[in-house]
Order: sequence, then C-alpha cells, then structure tokens
Amino acid sequence: MSELTAKRASDSVTEMTQLLLPGDANSLGAAFGGSVMGWIDICAAVCAQRHCRQTVVTASMDDLHFHAPITVGMAVTLKARVIAAFTSSMEIGVTVHSENPHTGERKLTTSALLTFVALDQAGKKLKVPALLATTDAERDAAADATERRADRLSRKERGARWLAVVMQQPPEV
Ligand SMILES: CC(C)(COP(=O)(O)OP(=O)(O)OC[C@H]1O[C@@H](n2cnc3c(N)ncnc32)[C@H](O)[C@@H]1OP(=O)(O)O)[C@@H](O)C(=O)NCCC(=O)NCCS
Repeated sequence: MSELTAKRASDSVTEMTQLLLPGDANSLGAAFGGSVMGWIDICAAVCAQRHCRQTVVTASMDDLHFHAPITVGMAVTLKARVIAAFTSSMEIGVTVHSENPHTGERKLTTSALLTFVALDQAGKKLKVPALLATTDAERDAAADATERRADRLSRKERGARWLAVVMQQPPEV
C-alpha cells in the first residue's frame, strides 16, 4: 500500500435528491424504511468512493434513526460526508431531509453512519487517504469515530446472543 495524499471532507461531500413516490411508501403513505436505507447506502458509497477513488463495499450501517416520517410527494435530500478515514475503511455520516415542494419547509427525517471498505478488483483491501480535519468540530467527530470503530469491531468479534437465537432451527413438530 503506497502513501496517499490526505483529503478534506469537503472534497467528497455528496448530495442527492429523490421524490417520494407511492412505490417507495407504506400503507400510511410514508416512506418505506428499506427504500430510505437504500438511498442512504448509495449516497454514502458515492461519498466514500470520491474520497478514496476506489471501489468500496458497505461493511456496516449503524446509528440509523428515523426521526420523522417522509410523506408521498415530498422531495428527499440526502447529504453524505466523510467523518473519519482509517486504514482501508471510512466512516460516512448521512442526513436525510424531507422538503415540502409547496412551502419549502425542510425537516430532518433520518440519520445514519456507514462504514465502507476500499477493495481492488480481486477483493484485496486498499489503503484510503487520510482525512484532513479543518475545524475543531471535524477533529472531535473523527475522535469519536475512532471510539465507535473500536466498539463496532469488538461487538462483531464478540458475536451476540441474539445471533444464536435468530439462527436457531425451529423446533421439530
Ligand atoms: C467488509 C469486509 C471487506 C471486511 O473484511 P474483513 O476481512 O472482515 O475485514 P478486516 O478485519 O481485515 O478489516 C478490514 C477493515 O474493515 C473494517 N471492518 C471490518 N468489519 C467491519 C464492520 N462490521 N463494521 C465496520 N468496519 C468493519 C475494519 O475496521 C478494517 O478497517 P481498517 O482497514 O480501516 O482498519 C468483508 O467482511 C466483506 O467483504 N463483507 C461484505 C461486503 C458487502 O458485500 N457489502 C455489501 C452488503 S449487501
């Protein structure tokens, strides 16, 4: 892995806009969570790829919160930003806002953190550029990300009792 030039988060900020149509809504006329998660994944992946200029895969998505519903007919704006870059992985933060097309009112509806890993065509991990923090807020967020990374990896390593419960075979009848 060769040394790479550090990049600023502002170099890879990614925004995308969708229109919430009935096909992405539940029976209450509000966004289906899986559709929003798919958009979040795409917006964050583009951001991560802009940072490292490599192909990336999603390693995890967490801190996913649906703060408010998005109703059919609303414009949906997603914004993704690199929070931290490690060795081959990057933590990306995404926010989702709904926008009323008639009044322009915007509301935070969803937020999430995703980790992407850069891979070459053979699936080998690649080093990603470091993140150049330009403000105290960015430095603080990156420091928090280091703790979150350790926590994620420890939870993955430990496994969880719920995994065993979900994977267990149904009882014989
Ligand atoms: C993500 C993946 C590449 C990790 O591979 P691995 O061999 O388990 O990873 P390693 O232990 O070598 O860690 C590689 C990096 O991934 C990070 N990582 C691994 N698992 C992670 C997880 N669950 N969450 C966050 N980061 C993770 C590590 O911190 C490490 O980052 P670093 O290089 O910056 O320190 C591998 O599990 C994979 O290919 N998963 C499937 C990805 C995919 O198909 N995504 C689409 C989902 S539909």
